Amino acid sequence: MSHGEEAVAAASKAEAGPYGGRPSVGAEDGGGTQHPGAGRRGAAACTYMTAVCVHARRDAAAQQYRRSVEASAGERALLRRPDSANDNGITRSSSRPPCGGPCPSNAKIRGKTVIVTGANTGIGKETALELAKRGGKIIMACRDMGKCENAAREVRGTTLNHNVFAKHLDLASVKSIKEFAKSVLKEEQHIDVLINNAAVMRCPHWKTEDGFEMQFGVNHLGHFLLTNLLLDRLKESGQSRIINVSSLAHIAGDIDFADLNWEKTKYDTKAAYCQSKLANVLFTNELARRLKGTRVTANSLHPGVADTELGRHTGMHKSTFSSATLAPIFWTVIKSARQAAQPGVYLAVAEDLQETSGKYFHVFREKEAAKQALDEETARKLWEESAKLVHLDEALQECKA
Ligand SMILES: NC(=O)c1ccc[n+]([C@@H]2O[C@H](COP(=O)([O-])OP(=O)(O)OC[C@H]3O[C@@H](n4cnc5c(N)ncnc54)[C@H](OP(=O)(O)O)[C@@H]3O)[C@@H](O)[C@H]2O)c1
Repeated sequence: MSHGEEAVAAASKAEAGPYGGRPSVGAEDGGGTQHPGAGRRGAAACTYMTAVCVHARRDAAAQQYRRSVEASAGERALLRRPDSANDNGITRSSSRPPCGGPCPSNAKIRGKTVIVTGANTGIGKETALELAKRGGKIIMACRDMGKCENAAREVRGTTLNHNVFAKHLDLASVKSIKEFAKSVLKEEQHIDVLINNAAVMRCPHWKTEDGFEMQFGVNHLGHFLLTNLLLDRLKESGQSRIINVSSLAHIAGDIDFADLNWEKTKYDTKAAYCQSKLANVLFTNELARRLKGTRVTANSLHPGVADTELGRHTGMHKSTFSSATLAPIFWTVIKSARQAAQPGVYLAVAEDLQETSGKYFHVFREKEAAKQALDEETARKLWEESAKLVHLDEALQECKA
């Protein structure tokens, strides 16, 4: 872990206390009544710092600095594969994965089919690009087909891999997820890697087409349904992998089973993001337990703090204070989307991770997730509630028909 990431984690933990919690109705943003554990403040710290960090990359001075760094030999060295990596992709020099830099595996994935959600921009797009370079057939699953076609064209042009396809998937619509799954199941004989990457962070109190709170609906329920609809094909494909892109923000998360969709509690956009990212880890762990005995693995991941469009709904983006005062402090912890894509690529291709399942990775390193993410009873209950909300049994029947 870099010093910067440690700083973000430490700040979030210090603010959050051991676990997260949800504010009482009527509590003001940034103050007011809190449950013990003060999860909201933790959530605030986490997403706040993420937003600040992202903003720093957008700051003109930081951009200028980044350009000079990117042009420097330093970053070229950072992104160069280790000399000790062999062609099968496993580095020989160290048994311990690095805490940053390029994917430590050179493994190629010719003949493999990969689905990446939210691949038109940010980490998803860079993940698709890197996996296309490695020879895979890439399905870029996005809600905006204009952006998706453009991104797919760019990936094909850059990598000269013509097996890169844009496909419509709106995770805020159960209908769209079912249509996507039906079409993929009809067209693809095998699915080797599913990367559940798409997310929305700190949007206003929006609802999905089916009435779910947007962050929980897209980040968790959408991927929960998608994964389940594709699961039989993943199993039939032999050694396949599911990667759920979560976030360090999960440590400030709290699952409120009495109000998963924020219908009774005063909406807290930060706590809602943290809940959805905690749900990503819990879902991964329960999925891995259910997949025991198959050759399908499921792991979750914090990719690092990166300069992407994730902070598009945060006021921090536009704040002069954060731009002038905080941005210069935090620029050191921020990665490019290309760098933040490397850990997901690693989980997708590394041969030494073939049997690894039910684990949480902080960038390249396996780590223990927050305590509330390891609770098996919570994970089982979340699975059951999610299955009810998306009418999983009916959806499975529909997609088989
Ligand atoms: N950036 C960071 O610092 C950071 C840190 C920790 C974890 N993460 C995680 O990394 C992942 C990628 O984030 P990012 O930083 O690359 O963010 P980003 O640049 O905002 O990309 C998010 C992607 O998700 C897509 N998306 C949003 N709603 C969708 C929906 N309803 N259906 C389908 N796709 C949808 C977006 O599509 P549109 O462009 O059409 O909106 C976009 O392609 C997320 O899971 C995030 O939680 C990021």
